[in-house]
Parts: sequence; C-alpha cells; structure tokens
Amino acid sequence: TNVKPFVNEPFTDFSKEENKQAMEAAIAKVKAELGREYPLHIGSKKVMTDARIVSINPGDKDEVIGRVSKADQALAEEAMQTALQAFESWKRVPAAERADYLFKAAELMRQRKHEFSALMILESGKNYAEADADTAEAIDFIEFYAREMLRLSRINETQPLTKIAGETNNLTYIPLGVGVVIPPWNFPLAICVGMTTAAVVSGNTVLLKPASTTPVIAHKFVALMEEVGLPAGVINYIPGSGAEVGDYLTTHPKTRFVSFTGSKEIGLRINRLAAETAPGQIWIKRVVAEMGGKDGIVVDETADLQAAAQAIVASAFGFQGQKCSAGSRAFIVESVYDEVVEKVVELTKALQVGLPETNAPVGPVIDQGSYDKILNYIEIGKTEGKLLAGGGKAEGNGYYIEPTVFADVDGKARIMQEEIFGPVLAIGKAKDWKEAIALYNDTEFGLTGAFFSSDEDRIEEALETVHCGNLYINRKCTGALVGVHPFGGFNMSGTDSKAGGYDYLLLFTQAKLTSRKN
Ligand code: SER
Repeated sequence: TNVKPFVNEPFTDFSKEENKQAMEAAIAKVKAELGREYPLHIGSKKVMTDARIVSINPGDKDEVIGRVSKADQALAEEAMQTALQAFESWKRVPAAERADYLFKAAELMRQRKHEFSALMILESGKNYAEADADTAEAIDFIEFYAREMLRLSRINETQPLTKIAGETNNLTYIPLGVGVVIPPWNFPLAICVGMTTAAVVSGNTVLLKPASTTPVIAHKFVALMEEVGLPAGVINYIPGSGAEVGDYLTTHPKTRFVSFTGSKEIGLRINRLAAETAPGQIWIKRVVAEMGGKDGIVVDETADLQAAAQAIVASAFGFQGQKCSAGSRAFIVESVYDEVVEKVVELTKALQVGLPETNAPVGPVIDQGSYDKILNYIEIGKTEGKLLAGGGKAEGNGYYIEPTVFADVDGKARIMQEEIFGPVLAIGKAKDWKEAIALYNDTEFGLTGAFFSSDEDRIEEALETVHCGNLYINRKCTGALVGVHPFGGFNMSGTDSKAGGYDYLLLFTQAKLTSRKN
C-alpha cells in the first residue's frame, strides 16, 4: 500500500471569523443532541442498563450531556468472553488490514473534527483551542499508530536479522490478547483514542472503560470505529465504576494487559492488583501506566523573561491546569525573581474565567471532587506561600476556580510536592540556576519540565541534569505533538512508556522469532 509519511494534523485558527463560526455551528448541532441514552457495546450487542452514569457539563451543571449505561461485573465478564472470542479471529487479520480501519477512522474524524471538539467543549470544559488540539491529537495517534504497525510488520526488511548460512530467520510482532483500557477524562478523546487504537492495530482486542465524567465523547469514538466496519468485539465499550468493574477486570485471569492513564494512586493500585497471579492465569500481566506530574519551569537571569512568564502561565493554566504535563511549579533565579513574578501575576489576572462554549480562556474544573480538592489545596497554599492572584471560587453555574498564583513557596511545601490537577501555580526562588534545577528535580514525579536560559553552557548542562521524560528548552512544558515529542515520564509519572513514539506498540506486542532450516 502507498501510505504518505506521517504529518501532524494542523490546529484551527479561531481568530478567523469563519473558523469561530464553524465551531459555534458544531456546538449548536451537538447541543441539539444532548441528553441521549447510550448503551454498552459488547460485541455486536447494544446493552441498555437500568443503572446509568449521568454525564453533565462541568461549566453548566444543569446541562446533561448524556446518560450512559453502566456495566456491572456480570456484564464485564460477558464483555471479557466476547473480547476473548474476537481475539481469535482479529489476531489473524493481516497488519495492513488492521491499519486500514484506522486510516478510514482518521479520515472520518477529520471530516467531523469540530463536532468531536464541540462535544468535548460541552462535556469536559475545554475552550476551542484546547478541544481542537485534543481532536487533532486523536487523529494524529490514529494515523501514527497505523503507520507504526505497518513498520513493525516490515521489520525484517528495515532491520534485518544477522544472516547465517542454511537458515531463514524472521521476527514478527504478535499481539498479546485482551487488554483493559482505562483512559482519563482530561484528554477524553486523544488519550482514549491513542490507547485504544495502539492496542487494536497491534492485533489485540480491548475492554474500554471510559472515564466516568467523559463517557459520551468516548462513545462517539466507539461509534466511529463501528461505522468504519471494525469487526464486532474488537472494541467493547463498558463504562463502569473503578472499584467494581476496574478491579474485577484488572484481577481477571484472562486479562493480558492493562493500559491506564490517570492518577498515581489508581496507577499504583492497578500495578499492585495486576501483579497478583489469579488462579488459571498463565502469563505475567503487562501494565502500561501514565500517571501524574508535578512539572515545572526553571528560569535563569539570562532568559527572555517575557517569553518565560508567558510559558509559565500557559503551562499552569491551559485547560485549568488539568494536564499531567501542567507546569504547576516555577523556580526563578533571585536576580530576576520579582520581575518574572510580576509578569506572571499580570498575565494571570488578565485571564477570564467563563463558560467554555463562549471560548473563555479559563473554564471549569471537571467535577465536584476536583473542585473540592483544588479549593482545599488553595487553603493549604495560603499557609505555605504568598497569594498573588486568584485564591478561590469563581462565578458561574459550574466548577469554576480562579487561576491562582502563590509566590515564595518552599520546595518542600505540599503545594510544591503534591499534584493538585487544577489552576494553581506555586513559585519558588532560587539563588542561582543550579539551585533552581535542584529544586525542580526534588520531586517523586518526572514528566515534563522546561528550562529558560540563553546561556549555551547552562542549556547543555540542563539537558542532562533536569530529570524528566519530556524536557523543553525555552518553551512551555505542555502540548507534546505525536511523533514529534514522544510523551511519557519517569519515576511516579508512570511506566516510562512513550505515547506517540516508536517504542509504543512494542508495549502491546510480543516478538516471535521463527527459524527455518533451508
Ligand atoms: N500530551 C499532553 C501534553 O503534552 C499531556 O497529556 O500536554
């Protein structure tokens, strides 16, 4: 097949009136379809349950996005049996055919791009640009992993084995089996799509348990895969509670792998449960976990201070700080500290908080639990630092919190060490750039970081000593692009996997060597 090289899906420029109007039209279209009921997908069966997960608009709590059926253990077991059966045929479908389903899906998603984004604006509280980037990343993951499967299927040509006389040797990457896919709500399309399509194109079948706050956008993706003709049972859609369905499937003897993105606490729990061998289990389960971050930006006195302040604000408050990549900390060298802090505060105070569908720069946080947790951290922050911006709730019929800045925070403070996952920035002072890097590195996480400097020697050293999976120089620490910035972190940030990179599909495959005597 003739596949063009991978390129990233471009972002939409919403300063152009026609693009803004197109998004408004998409929002109106999605609004007309709100409040529907969604079934589980177990093979070709659509199952409506009495129990429901009600998905609401976090920016307008009275607006119901959809009522989604909810699996219990019996239905999860049925889905497992269905996925096991589907695996027997799906694993034998040639890689190129599996990739073709993805190419078709990417094309359809591209045609309906704004519709996917509009649904995320309403269901997750993203502004236009954040939602558009999420959909673009979803398309990128599909396109990228399809090509990656094609590349792996040709590995004997591109990376030949050492030849010896009298034998023909081949390496093939074969799938693992049934995987449980548990994506997060913060990239409710991109990460859900990336995790699912990587597993599926590799030849596995999956039980997809979407995040309970964003199950409708996940359903829209599942429906798209059905529309492109993906065989029934390859992706099974089973929303449900983590404690009931998540634990049941994680400990299930037939689960071959668990692919998870979410909090450190849940990731560690999955890792622990998956490590136990259930009666009848004949493999070591694989766990791929992308967990939290306490990411930060380091600024020295030679840096472009305006650019640094803009990057700090963008990294801290993009999607209300609800990214594992969010720059929730900044360490600034003493001699430029006051100047940078002042710029950060000014830029933060200019951010308007409001309803996502009006494209306010800052929207709501995801739900009551997050809202309470973040407000509690803000109270803790008031005892740990100097409050310079925000500091509490914001107006609106949703989970709105003011973008909040604390300065003069000690490196060991709770708001410097614990992941808040909200619009809260902690700034610390360092005597020089080396101390600033040491402060940055003093964390159990290690996902993203940025170093701002114009000094080549320092940059060289920072590239080595700043310890995180995604290190950026003189730019913000969010917004990794598929293929360009393979994404994933160290230590408690996860299993060191790299989404959107060349190693990713290896996590969902096992290599089989065949050797034939001539
Ligand atoms: N990949 C996203 C980013 O880089 C986070 O998941 O911001």
